[in-house]
Amino acid sequence: MASATQDSRIRFGVIGCGVVAPTHAIALEGIERADLVAVADSSASRVQNFAREFGVPKAYAGHEELIADADIDAICVCTPHHLHAPIAIEAARAGKHVLIEKPMATNLADADELIRICDEGDLRLGVVFQHRFDAASAHIKHLVDEGDLGTIALASVYVKWFRAADYYDPSSWRGKWDTAGGGVLINQAIHALDVLCWFVGDVKSVMGYAGARVHDIEVEDTAAAAIRFACGAFGVVEASTTTYPQTDERIEIAGSAGTVTIEGGQIVQHELAGRRAETPEFVLEDSRFRGKSYYGTSHPRVIEDFVEAIHEGRAPAVDGREGRKVLEVIFAIYESSRTGREVVLGGDG
Ligand SMILES: NC(=O)c1ccc[n+]([C@@H]2O[C@H](COP(=O)([O-])OP(=O)(O)OC[C@H]3O[C@@H](n4cnc5c(N)ncnc54)[C@H](O)[C@@H]3O)[C@@H](O)[C@H]2O)c1
Repeated sequence: MASATQDSRIRFGVIGCGVVAPTHAIALEGIERADLVAVADSSASRVQNFAREFGVPKAYAGHEELIADADIDAICVCTPHHLHAPIAIEAARAGKHVLIEKPMATNLADADELIRICDEGDLRLGVVFQHRFDAASAHIKHLVDEGDLGTIALASVYVKWFRAADYYDPSSWRGKWDTAGGGVLINQAIHALDVLCWFVGDVKSVMGYAGARVHDIEVEDTAAAAIRFACGAFGVVEASTTTYPQTDERIEIAGSAGTVTIEGGQIVQHELAGRRAETPEFVLEDSRFRGKSYYGTSHPRVIEDFVEAIHEGRAPAVDGREGRKVLEVIFAIYESSRTGREVVLGGDG
């Protein structure tokens, strides 16, 4: 296994040089104790262009060669969804630490296997849920944990986005069960849902509907679900990639002593009983950031935390077990939609 001491730099490889990969490369450029030393993509032209643009020394035509490179300590998995767990498992078996784009797997058995192998190899496993690192999210997490919102009654997310038909081009991995593992829930709404569950805690059960309303795809472009949290709060999820105009994703938490709402990473409502109304503003700009606006600006923080986790021998802030939680909720919504029944998570009633 590649090893890192407190003083050494972590040598990264990025697998998959598509739309999200530049966000990883740019973040890595700005991190002191990390270097991007290799990239891999199954498209030879894409990997060559990417390596040239970001000055990466090694470009591999497949993930296997990158994983076999003994010079690499850690990998970022930026491939289509169905390859996340298989590639990450292969990399972990080769002794690499793994930072994996969302979702960590397209089924829970693969997620569990990946967690087990990383545990056994004493390897760090991180999942990219960058919105947990947004300043607005950290602020609200603190309010909830301190009980400043009182008893939470409702906790909901709304992701009403618009994707043109070519987003689901038939040649793409998107829009298909076997390569994407689902639609708007597992690809887009997963971020807001992850943050919501991080704020409010475990989900007890769901009742949901999911289907393709507009796009000619196998998976859902639209979903709605009712959620019962273990703490007793209720919530709803509304998600679509068909609604015009696209609006910023919205997370609302309403409790007996306060209500907070985030839209597009900014707090837009912040009302606490008995306190002067003030809405904190958090600056989203980060000079190291380049990506689509809805990625936010927190990829560098995810990778920084991951690098520190390797150095310190601790779990990353969003480790495999944390990354798995929202998947369980999403798969339960799919099951509820298929069966027409409430689905209890963890199977313990
Ligand atoms: N965190 C975020 O905000 C965020 C944003 C966008 C995408 N993502 C996630 O990033 C991942 C990639 O998304 P994308 O939009 O960049 O997709 P993409 O299709 O643009 O890129 C995927 C790349 O992987 C390559 N690839 C496929 N099989 C490979 C293999 N075996 N070895 C090496 N490379 C291989 C493809 O050639 C392609 O270049 C997805 O999981 C997506 O959900 C996350």
